[in-house]
Amino acid sequence: MALVNETPQWKALQGHWDEMKEVRMADLFAKDPHRARDMSLSIARLHLDYSKNLITQETLAKLVDLAEAVDLKGWTRRMFNAEAINNTEQRAVLHTALRNRSNRPVLVDGVDVMPQINAVLARMESFVGRVRTGEWTGHTGERITDIVNIGIGGSNLGPKMVCAALAPYQTESLRVHFVSNVDGTHLVETVQSLNPAKTLFIVASKTFTTQETMTNATSARDWLLTALQDREAVARHFVAVSTNAARVTAFGIDTANMFGFWDWVGGRYSLWSSIGLPIALAVGFDRFVELLEGAHAMDEHFLNADLAQNMPVILGLIGLWYANFAGACTHAVLPYDQSLRFLPAYLQQGDMESNGKGVTRAGVAVDYTTGPVVWGEPGTDGQHAFYQLIHQGTQMVPADFIGAIHSHNELGDHHPKFMANFFAQTEALMRGRGYEEALAEMRAEGVEDEQASLLAHHRSFPGNRPTNSILMERLTPHTLGALIALYEHRIFTQGIIWGINSFDQWGVELGKKLANVILDEIKMGKVKAGHDASTRALLERFIAHRNG
Ligand code: F6P
Repeated sequence: MALVNETPQWKALQGHWDEMKEVRMADLFAKDPHRARDMSLSIARLHLDYSKNLITQETLAKLVDLAEAVDLKGWTRRMFNAEAINNTEQRAVLHTALRNRSNRPVLVDGVDVMPQINAVLARMESFVGRVRTGEWTGHTGERITDIVNIGIGGSNLGPKMVCAALAPYQTESLRVHFVSNVDGTHLVETVQSLNPAKTLFIVASKTFTTQETMTNATSARDWLLTALQDREAVARHFVAVSTNAARVTAFGIDTANMFGFWDWVGGRYSLWSSIGLPIALAVGFDRFVELLEGAHAMDEHFLNADLAQNMPVILGLIGLWYANFAGACTHAVLPYDQSLRFLPAYLQQGDMESNGKGVTRAGVAVDYTTGPVVWGEPGTDGQHAFYQLIHQGTQMVPADFIGAIHSHNELGDHHPKFMANFFAQTEALMRGRGYEEALAEMRAEGVEDEQASLLAHHRSFPGNRPTNSILMERLTPHTLGALIALYEHRIFTQGIIWGINSFDQWGVELGKKLANVILDEIKMGKVKAGHDASTRALLERFIAHRNG
């Protein structure tokens, strides 16, 4: 099968970029009074304005042609219909089934998985109810006040991001903490203010073999047993979320206290499964269901809407336009919402672990850009840190601005000020400021001519920098669910066009393997042959100084 960049649709886009690269967005707005209206879309309580992009309707039509050429619609149906589209692991990809609120049957190898999904949800509901009402107590009969989720990657980032985002919905009687890093500091600093008798640990790991998680879980169990002095206490203070019952049992957690999920749920797509248990504990089961409903609304749209009117597809195509034709290497996610402060980190895993691939599904090396570096910080902190580069640096940084019309914390005029910055930044990035304009401004301010002509170079902005604006009424479980699903399907759209498998992650294996070899050497205090000179010297230094 030919690489996508050999198709006529791709080549047409290359030619089109040559025409578009000198076009000014401001001129496109001036020419078309309906541009903002025609390049906006409201779906699942999210409003997207994609008009501040270096695109025309012709660009979009050409991008849609490309999506059709790779049969994006067909692949979407295959994902929803449980075909094993994760071809390197021979697995279906069914995070959409986890939030399938229609309850339509989803058949994996001829078996409808909806009853299993609903059964786990029912167990989660019952458990969440018992903990939140205080019926589930610790070993000494005390009410649980603190939940510590121990997991990493997809078993941490999603629940952590959602719990922060939905903080206004959280019960005050339960605090939720997250420990992920194997650096002992993370666990020590998290538990130091907690009372073991009132703490419940969730050990969240799809495989239940991940070094970081198992190390943290073992140390957490030691901490608990040191305080409570009774092995029976583990049953009241540890639950597991995993696909691996045998390992859960071996760790000492009764499978009665295990919440399962399935191999067709990718780690970075798993917050909708029992990996979402900390979310349900924090905000209540009904709110967790609202999160699923928001995602389901976006799923239905993604599955059924035409490509040209499809929000995740449009975002995916625009991102690809910049990555593959305009040479952009990164993508910034800029939430104007303090509660979404962990969204960039969450999307880093979602996007970069999915689309950071260099070979096609058939194993052929690609010679075009795939996943960009995803990064970001909430506004307005980001404005005072890295926006300088986005405005005046030499690279194009496509950016998504995300904000809400109403804040959960309406304090004086904070929110109008906050959102004024959102709108001003996207306008400034698009409009820029020419040399003559900067010069005229300074002259009007009375700056003397020589100084003004020098400074005008520094004070002019190229503009024409692309942004998407995503606005919602309020950040709720529903809108958050829709927002996350929007990005998941954006990732899918791009992965399909690039012809890669977005659902494996072989790239994380080598480092893990080498770390195990090196750990043995550190423990033995002896470096074996076979390392390069740099690694060897570093290891010897580390061992000598630790033992010395
Ligand atoms: O980083 C690799 C990875 O496999 C991720 O894909 C996954 O989310 C994470 O490790 C954690 O894995 P597990 O849930 O099996 O502990």
